[in-house]
Amino acid sequence: MIEFDRVNVHYGKNHVLHDLTAKIEAGEVVALIGANAAGKTTALRTALGLKNLSSGSLRFAGEDVSSLSTHERVERGLILVPEGRQVFVKFTVTENLLMGAYHRNDRNKVQVELDHVYDLFPRLRERKSQKAGSMSGGEQQMLAIGRGLGKTEMPVARRTDNGAGTNHRARDFDHLRQAGRQRHNDPPG
Ligand SMILES: Nc1ncnc2c1ncn2[C@@H]1O[C@H](COP(=O)(O)OP(=O)(O)O)[C@@H](O)[C@H]1O
Ligand SMILES: [Mg+2]
Repeated sequence: MIEFDRVNVHYGKNHVLHDLTAKIEAGEVVALIGANAAGKTTALRTALGLKNLSSGSLRFAGEDVSSLSTHERVERGLILVPEGRQVFVKFTVTENLLMGAYHRNDRNKVQVELDHVYDLFPRLRERKSQKAGSMSGGEQQMLAIGRGLGKTEMPVARRTDNGAGTNHRARDFDHLRQAGRQRHNDPPG
């Protein structure tokens, strides 16, 4: 589903990704582990087109997306869940989720996506009218993941450990795994 093929990335003279080659299939959940400054964030930014590759290619859902803009990749279902939550604190849970669906103009589909996220995270349904900034760190992280999951083939999650604690981290992975399985068995229309 997503395939890095001999991807090289530089920041100036700093050669950060060396022939990165990896293939992740639909329904798989993969953790990218590495030392500080190894290039994990750079790999994810490159997947989304937030950083250009120097050479190599990136395929997503059968298509070479290497030269597509970030928003074109997002439209195809490649989503980055931001590091450190980054929810809109003054907006409610529902408003935050709707912002994740902003590229959809079909209202029925938006409602289906909202329901899907609320089924996955009942805690968010209970708090749907609450301002995101007044929720706990772990709940905000759920919201950041839910916002990315609204409509996606391949959520690309960044570190989920900021203040959320080990239990939340484990749960985040459970949710991602569950979402991955659901998408795999029941591909979005
Ligand atoms: N915007 C940038 N400009 C210049 N160098 C950067 C930039 N972002 C990251 N780097 C460098 O690229 C290397 C990899 O960083 P990063 O991908 O953030 O590592 P990780 O997420 O694995 O800790 C580091 O040496 C870092 O200093
Ligand atoms: Mg990083």
